[in-house]
Amino acid sequence: MNLNRRNFLVGTGAFAAPLVMGGCCGCFKANEKINVGVVGIGRISTTMDIPKTICHTDLCRFTAVCDLDSKRLVHGVRFIKEQYRKLTGEANAPVKAYSDYRDMMADPTIDAVMICIPDHWHALVAVEALLAGKHIWLQKPFAQTVKEGRIIAEVARRKGLVVQVGSWQRSVYQFMLVCELVQAGRIGEVKRVEVGVGLDKAGGSSAVEPVPENLNYDMWLGPTDEKAPYNWTRVHDQDLKKIGNRPGWIQMAPYGWGMITNWGAHHLDIAQWGLGKDDSGPEGVSGTCEWMDTSGGRLWNVHTTYDLHYSYNGGKTDLHLCNKFPCGVKFIGEKGDWLYCMRGAAKVTPSDPDTPSNGKMKPLMASKNKLLEPIAGSKITPQCGSQDHFTNWLEAIKAGDPSLTVTNAEIAQRSSTACCLGQMCMELGRGKKDGASLKWCPAKEDTCCKEAQKMLKPFARGEYDLAKTFKRFGQDLPPALKG
Ligand SMILES: NC(=O)c1ccc[n+]([C@@H]2O[C@H](COP(=O)([O-])OP(=O)(O)OC[C@H]3O[C@@H](n4cnc5c(N)ncnc54)[C@H](O)[C@@H]3O)[C@@H](O)[C@H]2O)c1
Repeated sequence: MNLNRRNFLVGTGAFAAPLVMGGCCGCFKANEKINVGVVGIGRISTTMDIPKTICHTDLCRFTAVCDLDSKRLVHGVRFIKEQYRKLTGEANAPVKAYSDYRDMMADPTIDAVMICIPDHWHALVAVEALLAGKHIWLQKPFAQTVKEGRIIAEVARRKGLVVQVGSWQRSVYQFMLVCELVQAGRIGEVKRVEVGVGLDKAGGSSAVEPVPENLNYDMWLGPTDEKAPYNWTRVHDQDLKKIGNRPGWIQMAPYGWGMITNWGAHHLDIAQWGLGKDDSGPEGVSGTCEWMDTSGGRLWNVHTTYDLHYSYNGGKTDLHLCNKFPCGVKFIGEKGDWLYCMRGAAKVTPSDPDTPSNGKMKPLMASKNKLLEPIAGSKITPQCGSQDHFTNWLEAIKAGDPSLTVTNAEIAQRSSTACCLGQMCMELGRGKKDGASLKWCPAKEDTCCKEAQKMLKPFARGEYDLAKTFKRFGQDLPPALKG
């Protein structure tokens, strides 16, 4: 398995002709720095994305921030200046501030953007950035619907721009090792994969509150229903001291789909990688879930417990996603041998909920220790670390080579599709005792289920509409937007 250089796959629904290059892909001189802008000054950008990237002062320079909450925007400027004070001793590093991402993308001095915003916004900002010629770091899950993801991947391919998605487990030793061993046949044919993605708890409040003056709430709602009443638990905490806390939207449809896309974008990504499904996916999903109790004025509405079966390889491989499994990914072979991988810590950020049974499992385990022996000549060592995911993005940009990122757009689209299919299956099974069964054609990225087909479509409202973005850039609509 080639872990450093991946083929940049041509996906389904490809546009007929490549677009004219709009960015500065491939034209960085040896000592020239990548100018980076950040969209979204929230939990993940301030606790992970900015700190882990800005420290590469030899490769990049953070020059701009964008947020639709002016309090957070001001904080973002301060945060970057503070980082440079610590890193380079600069007293007052210049940082531009944008309240509208479209203005940031129009700035020709910015080469690359980190997109660290809620999931319902990913596609609109990613497509805007790519059409404006910027390389992107896009947080997971890649997209909120299957077609949104397909559109992002196609634009990235046509523009020849670098995409790295925040599913950083692909750059971490135990996940790399287990996937390499599974792909090399260490446990024989994989019969089952057991995946746990943790469990959300009900909460939030539906009490209507006045919208803070500093928040552009209509824009925050973006392509979703503009009538959704404001309560801070739908959005994010207004106390800057709590910027590192889990935001409410992450357990509130349609802004997030819950753990299925939240941790699913990490663990289903690893499961697909181990199964060698980076360019395809499951042929069907069936099963059921329970939904959050919204009585008593509680707001959050995504799934809680889940029990889903994904079918791969014509039904020969069963991926079982269930909240009863320890958080992580366990590949089980034809003779019962197994390999298991999980993070060192059971949480992404300190504010994430606890995950079940983690105490019993170590980050890297096998049914027999011998199964963990590295393959001769393998480049995977315990020194491989999550920091590499960020370096990998910057180095791919410097090299002007989209195939270098370990979680490129095509791979992320396939993993994100697996998450979306799980969400669709749970939604279609709402109120049905045995849940739903959903057939899927990975080659066509389509289903014969009419109800599910509607759920594949991109979100759109008013100006927050991908079709309008393409028109603004004078570009034809991609096939996924026409259907
Ligand atoms: N890779 C990981 O391990 C990991 C962990 C947690 C979260 N995430 C992902 O990171 C992303 C951000 O999550 P978070 O927890 O930081 O959310 P958050 O709510 O804390 O922060 C998001 C910020 O984006 C801003 N924003 C929203 N829409 C915007 C727009 N259109 N333009 C400009 N700014 C906008 C908000 O005002 C907010 O400040 C999500 O996609 C989430 O799923 C990834």
